[in-house]
Amino acid sequence: MRIDIITVLPEMIEGFCHESILARAQKKGLAEIHLHNLRDYSTDKWRRVDDYPYGGFAGMVMQCEPIDRCIAALKAEREYDEVIFTSPDGERFDQHVANDLSLKGNLIFLCGHYKGIDQRVRDHLITREISIGDYVLTGGELAAAVMADAIVRLVPGVIGDEQSAFSDCFQDDMLAAPIYTRPADYKGWRVPDILLSGNEAKIKAWEMDQALERTRRLRPDLLGE
Ligand code: ADE
Repeated sequence: MRIDIITVLPEMIEGFCHESILARAQKKGLAEIHLHNLRDYSTDKWRRVDDYPYGGFAGMVMQCEPIDRCIAALKAEREYDEVIFTSPDGERFDQHVANDLSLKGNLIFLCGHYKGIDQRVRDHLITREISIGDYVLTGGELAAAVMADAIVRLVPGVIGDEQSAFSDCFQDDMLAAPIYTRPADYKGWRVPDILLSGNEAKIKAWEMDQALERTRRLRPDLLGE
């Protein structure tokens, strides 16, 4: 899988894209993350990529041309499955969206900034608009980084124990059950006896009960309650 991130602040997520799970995926040859500085596609001598909005509204707006030039340059090299605009008014990112996007080959993320982007970019170049939550970030970089992480870890082979990506919270619309490691007793804080019993069927049933109880208590909306 290949992810191209178009941004005016590549240095903001440069480190993140080459650490942890994204670094591991790239080292294994299972994913590529490329950052593109939108200013490199500006024709303005000051490398500007924004301008005042028509209509006298407040704030600055990202212009069509640099974005169009950057996306065209990428599309000239390969085909893309989605051109995603990170925006607080997009569809909500969740585990289902992450699963869906992890099955794609090539993705472009365009990070929003300033007051927004010229609507014609959204109308003609963007195939999907995604928000990571109902709050406004200063730019879409953190949103793109969050999504890249959630997507790439689902690519088969990225996480050593493949089972672990599928037993994540939110797979099956449930929170995960609590987990424990050694020692079995720490300062009198004991690991539940059932986990030490060796009875696989009972442990599985306990895990399901715990996941359901946790989901009901913390996220009843996931159960439609
Ligand atoms: N840009 C600003 N806020 C955002 C959000 N909540 N999700 C995605 N992109 C954004």
